[in-house]
Amino acid sequence: MSKVMKRLGRFSALFFLLLFASACTAVPIIPTYKPSALDPRGPAAAHLASLWWVMLAFGTAIFVLVLGLLLTAFLRRRRSTNATLPDSSDGDIGRNWLIRGGIILPIVVLAIVFGYTIYTLAVVENVQGRADVNIIVVARRWWWEVQYPEQNITTANEIHIPIGVPVRFQLESDDVIHSFWVPELHGKMDMIPGHTNYLTLQADQAGVYRGECAEYCGLQHALMGFVIVAQSQADFVRWVNAQQKDAETPTDSTARQGQQVFISAGCVFCHTVQGLDVKTIVPGRANLGPDLTHFGSRLTIAGASLTNNTSNLAGWIVDAQHIKQGVDMPRMSLKSQDLQTLLAYLATLK
Ligand code: CUA
Repeated sequence: MSKVMKRLGRFSALFFLLLFASACTAVPIIPTYKPSALDPRGPAAAHLASLWWVMLAFGTAIFVLVLGLLLTAFLRRRRSTNATLPDSSDGDIGRNWLIRGGIILPIVVLAIVFGYTIYTLAVVENVQGRADVNIIVVARRWWWEVQYPEQNITTANEIHIPIGVPVRFQLESDDVIHSFWVPELHGKMDMIPGHTNYLTLQADQAGVYRGECAEYCGLQHALMGFVIVAQSQADFVRWVNAQQKDAETPTDSTARQGQQVFISAGCVFCHTVQGLDVKTIVPGRANLGPDLTHFGSRLTIAGASLTNNTSNLAGWIVDAQHIKQGVDMPRMSLKSQDLQTLLAYLATLK
């Protein structure tokens, strides 16, 4: 084996090793869905996936063609033993190759791909959303505020939609540029401060689809996730009805103590719990952090970085900075007993 081949072998081994390593992650990204844009679950994503496959087919065909021509030229040159001077017909052949392969072929291929791209964009964009469900998503560093103005619901990091119908999203940002991306349902859409973008997406099957922020937005960009829960019309209505209710005052004494901790520790200054009367200390609506009215019904916490369970929640409350450095949520130095009661209270917010 030649030196070059050995080097090539070593290089490709390293390349594949890096490729595998890039799939590893130090932070538990939960729920552990690995969404793929090539696994479409809605019409828009299906159109975009088709476009991707068409581009891949063209790219592969041209790659194979160019390699074939290179190989042919290489073998021919080796076969001709004595160097001959080029005759005049060589110039004609060269010119023909240049015109056909260098001008006509690229024009045809690029025109087809361009036309198909324009067609795909038109089909994906010209969709009317369902009139009675409009969802406003406001990107924050590093979480998502979700509002349903018609239903008068505010939630965070978890968006419920009915299946089989297009739903319109109004996308805004409160600080820097973010991007809204649910690979299985649609392409990316930027969320720009001072400018509203719209996106209409549809899920064909019930399920939980993971979304990501797709525009670098600072330290915790990688932990700015959310989930879309697509459900049947009946389940969606049930969810809406539950979310519209105020949080109930806990009957259990531990949870009631926790509610007091929630107020005295200052959680109420950033988080709203609908139905908890704190008007005397918090003027207006607290929205620096997610609305927690029905927090217990959500699948994840911390921008879909952790599963919503007691141990993750305890870790988050005590030291959010360790999990997501730079996040607005401060470290809370609570007495162990206060933490336990607070966890009990939060568990009642279903
Ligand atoms: Cu928000 Cu990246």
